Amino acid sequence: MKKPFDPNAPYQPESFSFRDREVLDDIFSRYPQGRERSAIMPLLDLVQRQTAEDGLKTRPPQGGWIPRAAMDEIARLVDQPPVKVYEVATFYSMYNLAPIGVHHVQCCTTTPCWLQGSEAIVKACEEELRLHMGETSADGKFTLSEVECLGACVNAPMVQINDDYYEDLTPETMKQVLKSLKKGQQPEIGPQSTRHASEPLPGPTTLQDRTQKAG
Ligand code: FES
Repeated sequence: MKKPFDPNAPYQPESFSFRDREVLDDIFSRYPQGRERSAIMPLLDLVQRQTAEDGLKTRPPQGGWIPRAAMDEIARLVDQPPVKVYEVATFYSMYNLAPIGVHHVQCCTTTPCWLQGSEAIVKACEEELRLHMGETSADGKFTLSEVECLGACVNAPMVQINDDYYEDLTPETMKQVLKSLKKGQQPEIGPQSTRHASEPLPGPTTLQDRTQKAG
């Protein structure tokens, strides 16, 4: 799904500055001198976390997103033309380039999730949130997006909400997760089935003698 990016939109702030200098220095310390542009991705992530923190205080609240001014500031810090930062930020779906809901519900609809029923999961989200793909709720709490494979195909169908994965979903468990978030509760993260992580559904099937010995 094409994500919105309008560098001249009225919601774009005039300027941006990083608040947590300690984290900023830590990010730069991970890369050798002369390779500062390698820090672009963690810096974009840091911006998104800072705006997410700030967004909880606005009315309606907002989730984390990356203003153009922040990308320009990153470009200045890594001594690159701004377009080098824009091209990274626009490529990855994990970077939000426009204001977004506090809970960003990203539904994976790539083949393994689709084969396991992602269409029904999308429908459950649309029904529970009364939103269509790409929309944000009027109270600022939810944005619904469609994304490509999130690397958890073994637990398909799944969605990512902010930093957390919810897997082995059914329409019922999907709605349950969203209902909990609406109430301000933290739903159980991970598989919404009875299995642990990505082990086979009937339980472990190999090396059982060794695991028993190891307790
Ligand atoms: S296809 Fe959905 S996580 Fe890979």
